[in-house]
Amino acid sequence: MRRQFIVLAISMVLFPVEIFSAEGNAAARKKIYKMNCSPCHGEEGKGDGVGARLLPVKPADHSDGNIMNNRSDKYLSKIISKGGSAVGRSTYMPAWGGLFSDQQIRDLIAHIRSLTRSLSHSSKGVDR
Ligand code: HEC
Repeated sequence: MRRQFIVLAISMVLFPVEIFSAEGNAAARKKIYKMNCSPCHGEEGKGDGVGARLLPVKPADHSDGNIMNNRSDKYLSKIISKGGSAVGRSTYMPAWGGLFSDQQIRDLIAHIRSLTRSLSHSSKGVDR
């Protein structure tokens, strides 16, 4: 019993990535967003993170359907992986391509879309 536990503990240390991606669900996406994006964009993506106050440019409000529903996945992928300057926006939006895999960037986009959707449902009923 105890030995099985030790083997499990060791494999969790050695293969955290596998365990993490097997999780590949909404909770895992939320966690990546919370740890890396929320400091500026806020926990619910409203652009009100603690760092937002220190920036001369307001971080985007990912929950605003009027803005986000006009953004293609391709554009979102570009600004997330290459940073604001890649799409002619502020360099205060950092580039994340070196830190996250393509799959994780897709997961982040899915998470951003879920932040927008929850608002659209309640305010306008738009579902895109
Ligand atoms: C250091 C603060 C900071 C962090 C951390 C940060 N961002 Fe940003 N982000 C910004 C700012 C500032 C803008 C607005 C740029 C502009 O309007 O010119 C922005 C804009 C964006 C946009 C564009 C939205 C639009 O209106 O088109 C997306 C998408 C985005 N960020 C996603 C992310 C994701 C995903 C993460 C985490 C992996 C993240 N950001 C982390 C500061 C940050």
